[in-house]
Amino acid sequence: MAKSGHINTTHRAWWKECSVYQIWPASYKDSNDDGIGDIPGIISKLDYIKKLGVDIVWLCPSYKSPQVDMGYDIADYYSIADEYGTVADVEKLIQGCHQRGMKLLMDLVVNHTSDQNEWFKQSRSSKDNEYRNWYVWKPPRFDEQGNRHPPNNWISHFQGSAWQFDELTGEYYLHLYAKEQPDLNWEHPPVRKAVHDIMRFWLDKGCDGFRMDVINFISKDQRFPDAQVKDPRSIWQWADKYYANGPRLHEYLQDLGKILKEYDAFSVGEMPFVKDENEVLNAVRFDRGEINMIFNFEHVDIDHGEYDKFEPGSWKLTDLKNFFERWQTFMYENDGWNALYWENHDQPRCVDRYTHAKEEHRLHASKMLATVLALQAGTPFIYQGQELGMRNVPIEWGMEEYKDIDCLNHWHGLTKEKRFDTKAQQIARQEYQKKSRDNARTPVQWSSAPNGGFTGPNVKPWMSVNPDYVRVNAEKEVDDPNSTYNYWASVLRLRKQELDIFVYGDYQSVDRDSQDIFAYIRGGKILVVCNFTDKALEWDAKANGVQNTKEVLLNNYEGTGVATQKIMGEKWPLRPYEALVVMLKD
Ligand code: NOJ
Repeated sequence: MAKSGHINTTHRAWWKECSVYQIWPASYKDSNDDGIGDIPGIISKLDYIKKLGVDIVWLCPSYKSPQVDMGYDIADYYSIADEYGTVADVEKLIQGCHQRGMKLLMDLVVNHTSDQNEWFKQSRSSKDNEYRNWYVWKPPRFDEQGNRHPPNNWISHFQGSAWQFDELTGEYYLHLYAKEQPDLNWEHPPVRKAVHDIMRFWLDKGCDGFRMDVINFISKDQRFPDAQVKDPRSIWQWADKYYANGPRLHEYLQDLGKILKEYDAFSVGEMPFVKDENEVLNAVRFDRGEINMIFNFEHVDIDHGEYDKFEPGSWKLTDLKNFFERWQTFMYENDGWNALYWENHDQPRCVDRYTHAKEEHRLHASKMLATVLALQAGTPFIYQGQELGMRNVPIEWGMEEYKDIDCLNHWHGLTKEKRFDTKAQQIARQEYQKKSRDNARTPVQWSSAPNGGFTGPNVKPWMSVNPDYVRVNAEKEVDDPNSTYNYWASVLRLRKQELDIFVYGDYQSVDRDSQDIFAYIRGGKILVVCNFTDKALEWDAKANGVQNTKEVLLNNYEGTGVATQKIMGEKWPLRPYEALVVMLKD
């Protein structure tokens, strides 16, 4: 066990000390008034990003794509979607980042491609095409009546069978996502070589690393067995064991790791469905040479229903705290590393998911969430708009405002199947407003101008801007010292000032059983206390063993004067969603 207050100096690394800002290009900034964000738009905002204090920009998929899944369906890994710009624009973006001392990450989506990718077009054209084996093709199964069935019962993440029948050659292909996203066959060496070539192409252009989409799905159990269905509603939960963290995953990651190492590149892998710490450790432990860190899912799945994300779910603060404590301790003791995130393009806005904050508390709640996340050990990821405290879509929005395939497929399923009544539909509507990916995808609110300044005043943006842009926007926040934006900058600055503690120090939970307070001590020296409620409370510092306070380093309410007063006593009055960061005496 690590001793409290221990500073782990064994493996220092630049990527541990960085923070990352994620950009989802369609909704960032439209420079040419076509209603869709683009790379020149991103370039125009690089100073804004730099001022926030982040070190790395992660650009979500911008490659040529039919956009069935907003670019996670790539038709050509070597060119950029027309609506976003050109390869030359990406080169300019890389330069722009480098000139400002920031790095640029690209998204590597290589579990699957688009069905419009030339590789797949060739593959589906005939059984003896040289690309046939690049994808997972299987013959149908037939029942006694001679009816055709898919090769197994796996379900796609976007509803329905994970297999699509192709008339031309009479076989099914595997697609763990939409049918327009066929899975690559990583068993076939030319596929792996093609992925390595793509990586080198972008690294040679100056890109500094990759976020790797569902990277733990690339090795599948080659027997492709049926999932053991105990309850039809949970079918996909049983199938994942045949494709998440499959038998050859680490072999493949080792190969990718060699290339990353050559370029000293950054890597973060998306890894759904992994609860086994050792499986994660095998991917991220410092000496393994695979990837730097992964995105874990337990804390963002926390409000999902038992069988389905869009079923109501409930959670307690202790669930969230336990999740973080487990990973904080495990990585510290085992030479691994965490990626820290609340939001991304697949998740709702954190103020709405993790707090009950009404608008009057939005500011403090968004700052409190910044504090509790980014001062843990790990690399913090901030998703566009999170730095402004942007919120979920309005509850009044109709289904026509929702654009995401995940949500729409779910809705079509409900409305088509007669067994679902209108009550079920109503519940689903409420859950979409809480959990749909659309919540993260509304355009960034740059100003109080029409369309939030995302695009021209007379343009219809591809997705409506959240009408709260009149109150919540970057123009207002950049100049306001008390804004969420400037608070995020302070958190990141503090983290850098106290690297030994915040990056390399250990993590100790404080007041573990509280359902109101999330508190921890880093490196034995700095205490973080956050009120997760909309109530004023008293926190019993003395009863939690905290007496040796020195000074308040950060507070999410204006000025640290009041906060300094309160840490003098044994019981600390905390305002709604208040966060305190306190230096302790040696
Ligand atoms: C995970 C991505 O984050 C998500 O947006 C996408 O739909 C799936 N992978 C499929 O690529």
